[in-house]
Amino acid sequence: MSDEPGPTEWGEHPHGVGPWADEHAGPVPDDPRYDPELLAHGDRRNVVDAYRYWTRDAIVADIDARRHPLHVAIENFGHDANIGTVVRTANAFAAAEVHIVGRRRWNRRGAMVTDRYQHVRHHPDVAALTEFARDEGLTVVAVDNTPGSVPLETARLPRRCLLLFGQEGPGVTDDARAAASTTVSIAQFGSTRSINAGVAAGIAMHTWIRQHADLGRAW
Ligand SMILES: C[S@@+](CC[C@H](N)C(=O)[O-])C[C@H]1O[C@@H](n2cnc3c(N)ncnc32)[C@H](O)[C@@H]1O
Repeated sequence: MSDEPGPTEWGEHPHGVGPWADEHAGPVPDDPRYDPELLAHGDRRNVVDAYRYWTRDAIVADIDARRHPLHVAIENFGHDANIGTVVRTANAFAAAEVHIVGRRRWNRRGAMVTDRYQHVRHHPDVAALTEFARDEGLTVVAVDNTPGSVPLETARLPRRCLLLFGQEGPGVTDDARAAASTTVSIAQFGSTRSINAGVAAGIAMHTWIRQHADLGRAW
């Protein structure tokens, strides 16, 4: 998880709150989840209201207690700018981990600082990712519109699931497809050969959410 400031911290967030004393009657709470600095100066971070004034560690611990057994992996062999989008969406859906396969460096801008609250793990290659999935009892599902893929719209995704995405240009590699139990595709009807990988990841993650999440626990 990263400490560097990101785009949502370069300016004041419009939904932030001021110092606790300006916002609430009564004493400042001494709950250890609260950050004294944020209580004193306000909290302008892009976090849901339930986490206002909480320390980052307390927020991560709270999400950790109810993360889904959903992992997402994206191949990163050419600095894919979509990885930030994948991390942000994985955070929104409380996915267990995001796995980056290939190059370690990725463009954090699209993550909008959500990588602070999301576990992100690097693997040098698909073989290492596959080993991780096997150890964790996760079924690998590749996501791409390649021949032989089955429609995501009617597929039943496994509960302990690792969704594996390719990148702009090459798509899912042969190694990744071979490692997957199945490949699912998102139905398209227009002229383009494919949709943006970050958008595809959002659709696929949400399909898992619709099938397996307890929607009564959503914010
Ligand atoms: C831009 S696409 C890659 C290229 C694509 N295979 C092609 O032939 O143009 C990048 C990634 O987005 C995801 N993706 C894009 N469109 C998709 C679709 N219709 N169904 C499933 N995955 C898709 C896949 O993970 C894919 O590897």
